[in-house]
Amino acid sequence: MIEKMFKILIFLKIILIFFVSTGFSSSKEIEIPKQEWTFKGITGKFDRSSLQRGYQVYTEVCASCHSMELLSYRNLGEKGGPEFSLEQVKAIAANFEVNDGPNSDGEMFTRPGRPSDKFVSPYPNIQAATAANGGAYPPDMSVLVKARKGGADYIYAVLMGYTDPPPGFKIEEGVYYNKYMDGNKIKMSKPLADDLVSYSDGTKASEAQMAKDVTTFLTWAAEPHLETRHKTGLRVMMYLIILTILVYFSMRRLWANLKD
Ligand code: HEC
Repeated sequence: MIEKMFKILIFLKIILIFFVSTGFSSSKEIEIPKQEWTFKGITGKFDRSSLQRGYQVYTEVCASCHSMELLSYRNLGEKGGPEFSLEQVKAIAANFEVNDGPNSDGEMFTRPGRPSDKFVSPYPNIQAATAANGGAYPPDMSVLVKARKGGADYIYAVLMGYTDPPPGFKIEEGVYYNKYMDGNKIKMSKPLADDLVSYSDGTKASEAQMAKDVTTFLTWAAEPHLETRHKTGLRVMMYLIILTILVYFSMRRLWANLKD
């Protein structure tokens, strides 16, 4: 009897471990379609070229409105990220003008960016960003994927969710219809269109491809250690499974002895 209970308990435990690691999904008002992502699941990894293309989309399209204040250019070369070479990172940083100073005369000045600089923001502050965007603040994108329910699927859905409003839907000037926003309204005009960027790796820049790449990039930005976390998680799980099997067999022997 007790032996049976132990068996059941142990199997329940194994099942529980699997469940917790894959995560439950909860239902919500607007159904966000799930996408295939290479970084999902316990063995998930980022697609390196998608991260690099995603950075290109961010910097050429989104960066004119959305800041990413928590990132530095050197992060683009770190392991687990887009892994640009040091030369590339230096070249990327040097494309930006960074405010620095004061110099020995007490004057502020601008200079080309360095890998250690933070990403340059499009606006000096939230108020300026809001004023320039018709009263809506384009949120900082450093951790946006983590901050939003639905994460990567949500960002992708919003980017691909622009359609004509249904007949009779009232929409004001400067507001756009979007299937996946709360109330179906967003104050960001559709940011992507086919061939908006010209990918340096030759990939066809369809709207869906750009949405996928930039979302992958934003996911990495929000969780730069995802790959290490997955690796550790996998090790811990293996350890727990082996431990469970060992405990199971030793308990079997122990209880077997007690029976006679
Ligand atoms: C012309 C400026 C502009 C550009 C370019 C732009 N955005 Fe936006 N974005 C905004 C504004 C303003 C908002 C806030 C909209 C609102 O609150 O209704 C916003 C909101 C968003 C949201 C919704 C955030 C939330 O609060 O849930 C996402 C996701 C987003 N932008 C992604 C992007 C991506 C990705 C790009 C580049 C491909 C991009 N945006 C380019 C101005 C812009």
